[in-house]
Amino acid sequence: MHLLIVKGGLLRLKLADLRHFSCKEFQHRCFSAPDCVSMTTEHLIHILSPQVANQIAAGEVVERPASAVKELVENSLDASATKVVVRITGAGKKSIVIEDDGCGMSPEDAELALQRHATSKIETSEDLHLIASHGFRGEALPSIASVSRFRMQTALKGSSEGVEVRVDGGATTELRPAAPRRGTRIEVLDLFLNTPARLNFMRTDKTEDAAIVEVFRGLALANPSVAMVLELDGRKRFDFMPQDERSRVMAILGSDFSDNSIEMAIEHEGMQVSGHLGLPTFHHRDSTRMLFMVNGRVIRDKQLLAAVRAGYRDVMFHDRYPVAVIRIEIDPADVDVNVHPAKREVRFRSPQAVRAGVISCIRAAIEKMGQAVSSTTTDQAMRSMHYGGPASPSMGHGGMPRFSSGDFRAPSMPAGSTSMPKDMQRILFSAAGVSEPGAEYGSGQLNLGQPLAQIHRCYILAQTDSGVILVDQHAAHERMTYEKLKTQLAGKKVSSQKLLTPEPLHLSGKVAAWLHDHSEELEPFGVELEISGEESFLIRAVPAMLVREAAGELVAELVQSIMLMGSDAEGDSRGLGRILERWLGNRACKGSIKSGRLLSHEEQEALLREMEQTPNIAQCNHGRPTYVSLSLNDLDRLFGRKE
Ligand SMILES: Nc1ncnc2c1ncn2[C@@H]1O[C@H](COP(=O)(O)OP(=O)(O)OP(=O)(O)O)[C@@H](O)[C@H]1O
Ligand SMILES: [Mg+2]
Repeated sequence: MHLLIVKGGLLRLKLADLRHFSCKEFQHRCFSAPDCVSMTTEHLIHILSPQVANQIAAGEVVERPASAVKELVENSLDASATKVVVRITGAGKKSIVIEDDGCGMSPEDAELALQRHATSKIETSEDLHLIASHGFRGEALPSIASVSRFRMQTALKGSSEGVEVRVDGGATTELRPAAPRRGTRIEVLDLFLNTPARLNFMRTDKTEDAAIVEVFRGLALANPSVAMVLELDGRKRFDFMPQDERSRVMAILGSDFSDNSIEMAIEHEGMQVSGHLGLPTFHHRDSTRMLFMVNGRVIRDKQLLAAVRAGYRDVMFHDRYPVAVIRIEIDPADVDVNVHPAKREVRFRSPQAVRAGVISCIRAAIEKMGQAVSSTTTDQAMRSMHYGGPASPSMGHGGMPRFSSGDFRAPSMPAGSTSMPKDMQRILFSAAGVSEPGAEYGSGQLNLGQPLAQIHRCYILAQTDSGVILVDQHAAHERMTYEKLKTQLAGKKVSSQKLLTPEPLHLSGKVAAWLHDHSEELEPFGVELEISGEESFLIRAVPAMLVREAAGELVAELVQSIMLMGSDAEGDSRGLGRILERWLGNRACKGSIKSGRLLSHEEQEALLREMEQTPNIAQCNHGRPTYVSLSLNDLDRLFGRKE
């Protein structure tokens, strides 16, 4: 043990610890005289100046212009503003101006607000467990002011005096009297002016603007009763009036979402989970259209994302993402908001309960959606019908319309195509004119009518009470097979059928070795297997429903799915369901009634009747629609009989 006196204080340090000091001379003296036990020195440890401390904090809190916008708007919301205006120039690097009509500050408070750890939002450590405001750390303003030229004008509500505060790069705070005003105006100029490294990390203006838009959208979504305006380089990007919650969601996510989503609210173990949930056929390429709010705070949370996907698992292909806005209201004591520097994440006391709540909410919604098909699907179907013109480039292989359903915005008409006149399109594609998915929600009485014909051995045309439907026989059968297998699996085992002659299966290396130890795991799926060599097996039975398929391929894919989805922990039906989903999903519509099979009238009729009884029939396992419907009204409009 070595003793070291620093600035008159006594510290106990081991020799090894001393190596960490950078002062060369000090190290040299220590190590060259190892039995030296004490020495006096200065300037080794010191408290950082507030300016540097704030800049360090800014490193975490103000990652990019969007983070400054987030902090400042949150302050305005905490100040009970009814209107917040955000003006951005040069992607926020040049200037960020935020104006609110909130409670404002007295000159004394305005000065204090620029100090680190100065906050009006909490007082004691107990308050930390019950945070209801966005802010609580007293860090944002001093951090932002330490890396910018900061200007703030404010006045306490009802006061006849105002104040202007100026701080340049975290140096001294200047105060001067100003005219009284309503609320607070903050200007952040030349962000990161004194931290060039950070400035160099900035992405393109477009990317930084996009991040600001994203932050603003989230805050606007969470605070519908507040009027909120965003201007980018003088151009209004958003101008929201105070609205009810639904209107704000639709204003932000678009009318497409309004036509293709439903609302659901449930209570689960003391928490409220509510959401606007997109139809399964209205999916997106990534998770950016899934938004979460916990007690009014917009957060990102991998576990919640996973919960939403789990909720939709049965009805959506695994590389597509739902579109959903989910709110969770939970006892503040059950959630820790003090876990992320930018307060973008929270930690739940019981993450399992929250996950279960979210999944229940989504499942309830999916049940309510019943057998409705996203209206964008019908919309796209209508777009594909050309007005006396040749097949358009939007047609898929073989001239079949490509129903790439879902992606937020339906594809626009290809330029230069001989399509229907503009006003005709308007009539056809107005949301109300295309289809009314709501009409079928939860009715539980899907009526797919009578089959009229099979088209190209692929689609069934049927007449319903209100118009016609076109069924993709293959997609429909795929969903029916999946649902049946799922039911069988829930009842322990899928019914299997013995093969007349066992089929050999050859698997290589790792997979074969795995199968040697786990062959019994195929049993619940109706597959019986015998090990006949190191890398060879004999398939004795397959699921009765899939008996027409190539057994080798079928079993190899099942093995792969089980290995990938991890059979280890989840022997329960949920785990098996996931394997089933992946297995059948990956079969990529190979089985079932292959498109191309001629169906008799009776078979067509049987297919429609069975579809009516099948849960989640509106989409196949890949989230593609199984049928589209055109009402008589749609047809009348299509042929110009009706306005
Ligand atoms: N727009 C505003 N209107 C009224 N008061 C404000 C405004 N912005 C900040 N304040 C006051 O200044 C204080 C400091 O703000 P700051 O953002 O630095 O900390 P905070 O919001 O308390 O916590 P956090 O660092 O977590 O955001 C706030 O607690 C609040 O009292
Ligand atoms: Mg704050």
